[in-house]
Amino acid sequence: MDLASLIDDGLEVSIVGSFSRVGIALRRQLFGWEPLPDGALEGRTVLVTGPTSGLGRAATDALAALGARIVLVGRSAERLAAVRDALVARHGEDRFPIVVADMGSLDSVRDAVRRVEATEARLDVLIDNAGGIFPERHLSPDRIEATLAVLVVGPFVLVSGLLPLLRRTPGSRVISVTSGGMYSQKLDLDDLQSSGGPFSGSRAYARAKRAQTALVREWARRLRGTGITFCAMHPGWADTPGLAETLPGFYRAMRPLLRTPAEGADTIVWLAAEPAGAATSGALYLDRRPRPFDRVPATRLGAADRRRLWDAVVGLSGAPDPAPDGRAGRPAPEG
Ligand SMILES: NC(=O)c1ccc[n+]([C@@H]2O[C@H](COP(=O)([O-])OP(=O)(O)OC[C@H]3O[C@@H](n4cnc5c(N)ncnc54)[C@H](OP(=O)(O)O)[C@@H]3O)[C@@H](O)[C@H]2O)c1
Repeated sequence: MDLASLIDDGLEVSIVGSFSRVGIALRRQLFGWEPLPDGALEGRTVLVTGPTSGLGRAATDALAALGARIVLVGRSAERLAAVRDALVARHGEDRFPIVVADMGSLDSVRDAVRRVEATEARLDVLIDNAGGIFPERHLSPDRIEATLAVLVVGPFVLVSGLLPLLRRTPGSRVISVTSGGMYSQKLDLDDLQSSGGPFSGSRAYARAKRAQTALVREWARRLRGTGITFCAMHPGWADTPGLAETLPGFYRAMRPLLRTPAEGADTIVWLAAEPAGAATSGALYLDRRPRPFDRVPATRLGAADRRRLWDAVVGLSGAPDPAPDGRAGRPAPEG
């Protein structure tokens, strides 16, 4: 192993060194990151959920600067219009359609799918970024616990619905923004909706992010050979309105070490703009490199559990399985 990779591995183990602004600054130096080429995404269409704030906004700005057409998917027409107007003013052209959708409502997500299909001839990149932490347990309009609805079931329905478009677009990719917080939790497959015991918003969030990442692995396996790449990335800790609002104590303590939103979004943009085949489908990335799915064996979700999770989420989606096991792809290796 080369020295840069050794230092990177040491950073990864330290957590604070890895997730903070120190991690990305060192890795940029260690691996000599080059700027992405001008116009790298010209002629490409990218869909971003949650482009109105934080990481989604930073990713949108960077992707727009690389020439992408960007479908802005969010729950507030006014906030989306403000982002679109700022992008149009900066780039002098309107390649930023708006689709209003609440990721926590399945009807709303299905409607978004129909609208994207009606206007878009291709979809090169789908970025599943929208998210948040709910302090109290409550149910979505579909009677699904809200964290699971917004972070897992809504995005699953979005990807399922847009699969035909992704399949038709050569080299397409789906990028799921997860969280290093998932390292702290094992998924409870018998209680996906956090109905047992006292509710903890941050625990429900960490479990939903683990579920989201496990589904990325399932998508990658089931859609192997279709040309679609599925990746998860986690941003480390970034200074966003979402972090300030949902984890105020952590935010205040860590603020000097937090990444900028652009630093947190860097790997989203890199995964979107890298040449097809550069990223490994089914992998989890931080700072442009694959990372382990678990830090301790106790959180490990084996292949059979991932299949069980998939089936449960298909059940919650109320729609047929978009990629039945065994029809496309090969059996899952255990691990
Ligand atoms: N910041 C970090 O350090 C950090 C660390 C790990 C993971 N993450 C993940 O990164 C992603 C972005 O987080 P952020 O820190 O940038 O948070 P943020 O500033 O709160 O932005 C969240 C975005 O998601 C949108 N959103 C929330 N709920 C939605 C819903 N039900 N339907 C549609 N859109 C919805 C928000 O839209 P509105 O404008 O309508 O509110 C906003 O655009 C999240 O998935 C988060 O879990 C962040």
